[in-house]
Amino acid sequence: MTYLHHPVLAEAVAGATAGVHRAVDGTLGGGGHAAQLLAAGAQVLGIDRDPAAIAAAVERLGHAGIGYHTGNFGSGPALERIRDFHPDFILLDLGVSSPQLDAETRGFTFRPGAPLDMRMAADGATAADLLNRAPESDLARVFHEYGDERRARSLAREIVRRRARAPLATSDDLVNAIRAVLGPRSGPGDFARLFQAVRIAVNDELAVLAEALPPLREALLPGGRLAVISYHSGEDRIVKHLFREWSRACICPPALPRCQCRGQPLGRLEPRQPIRPTAAETAANPRARSAILRIFRNE
Ligand SMILES: C[S@@+](CC[C@H](N)C(=O)[O-])C[C@H]1O[C@@H](n2cnc3c(N)ncnc32)[C@H](O)[C@@H]1O
Repeated sequence: MTYLHHPVLAEAVAGATAGVHRAVDGTLGGGGHAAQLLAAGAQVLGIDRDPAAIAAAVERLGHAGIGYHTGNFGSGPALERIRDFHPDFILLDLGVSSPQLDAETRGFTFRPGAPLDMRMAADGATAADLLNRAPESDLARVFHEYGDERRARSLAREIVRRRARAPLATSDDLVNAIRAVLGPRSGPGDFARLFQAVRIAVNDELAVLAEALPPLREALLPGGRLAVISYHSGEDRIVKHLFREWSRACICPPALPRCQCRGQPLGRLEPRQPIRPTAAETAANPRARSAILRIFRNE
């Protein structure tokens, strides 16, 4: 698999990494941002859940100035590596990489005949396992919460009806269920949105992110930055909410007469506003379209 990947929001990330000494790239992917960090003179710790991404990054970037860890950036072993590394910059560029999307056997897209896999790591339940085994109410929640689907309950019911006849096995099975519910006018945009919803559930992406952000911030040196690029409204909501809460001096419930919390901000948003790709970047790289970068600077 060729692992060439144009890093999203490369200039903004470069701006945030000026003077950085020790950077963690928690989502190494094609190694695009890591290459940028190395070129800027930083020591890098590259982490990815996907062993194929790590193997390709080793081939592309070698071992000079960079160490690797295969695993979830929020797992105990990864957090331990990160703490020991004493980073002054941590980057998360969430979601899946172009090579993962392009690999037919991984089943991340609705390309005909792809297996319903969608796992970023090599273990755990596949998309087929989820679609064939989860209770109808769980499927409805996945399509509603992660896919913003108005007809989530009908789609879940349709999947349960179909799987009683034969288990869903390929992308076509999911596409046909979507078409049956959304009608003949449904198209690639709907398939992409609903496949993404299943992928987020298969990899438990939102819970992983929400749990990982606090210990990642704590692992940063004073003055260090945590930069997160999100592609899904659910991801960005988690980042926005936590970064705002960390920026506040007091997080006590309003009913408390006197402040009993930390009483000072943990840092600040820098810049205050999120950064989005320019029209030129989106034209050159359509996958950057929904990207939002938020950066938090630790006190
Ligand atoms: C958008 S790509 C990153 C691209 C990379 N920044 C580049 O410039 O090439 C996201 C990568 O993060 C990995 N990933 C997603 N969630 C992860 C997690 N919780 N822990 C570790 N890796 C994760 C995916 O396997 C994928 O390779």
